[in-house]
Amino acid sequence: PEIYAVVPAAGIGSRMQADRPKQYLSVAGKTILEHTLDTLISHPDIHHIVIAISDTDDYFSTLPVSQAKWLTVVSGGHDRASSVHNGLTALPAQSWALVHDAARPCLSHEDITRLLSVISSDTSSGGILASPVRDTMKRAVVSPGSDITVSHTECRENLWHALTPQLFNTGVLRHALEQGAAAGVTITDEASAMEAQGHQVRLIEGNPANIKITRPADLPLARFYLSEQSN
Ligand code: C5P
Repeated sequence: PEIYAVVPAAGIGSRMQADRPKQYLSVAGKTILEHTLDTLISHPDIHHIVIAISDTDDYFSTLPVSQAKWLTVVSGGHDRASSVHNGLTALPAQSWALVHDAARPCLSHEDITRLLSVISSDTSSGGILASPVRDTMKRAVVSPGSDITVSHTECRENLWHALTPQLFNTGVLRHALEQGAAAGVTITDEASAMEAQGHQVRLIEGNPANIKITRPADLPLARFYLSEQSN
């Protein structure tokens, strides 16, 4: 089956405090979104991308890439999971969907290739890029006076950060997202919807340089990682 990339890009990125959604900020010569799309489409196993764009977005159509033949545009939803779901509806059920955040421009081809190896390796329903937690993890309690204190320390052994891309069978993922939405649970990544349906999700160790741009301080970091890649 074919492999399609699905890019949720319909968020407003309020934590960036910028004048536009974060994927339209420029880093190292082009917008974050263009870095992300260029990396995906230049991978030899990806021939088509579906992108979810907000109906109120005035920026996307100004980018030359919005006219690309290899791109299908769908409307975004009220949260990331529904934007992804809208993207999946544009694809054949019997295909692979490689879902990748627009806000992660530092993805490498090596990481994509490593993730794609889950397709051929076994019977799993898919997998995600992830990286082991290195810091000590605290569970916090917020008191009524808004002091934040430690409830307890989580054991960090076997704790991983979920990254994207996340790769699943398109039809199976679509069903899992629909079940999650019907149950009213908050779905912050594709894997959690798959897990809730009892599917096995493989963890593939990815490069921690594949950061999600969230805060202003992430921009110089992304610039650095992108310059390292072009060396
Ligand atoms: O907000 P967060 O950083 O978790 O967003 C992750 C990705 O999901 C971003 O690429 C963002 O554009 C996308 N998103 C979306 N639709 C929404 C909210 C977020 O496509 N309603």
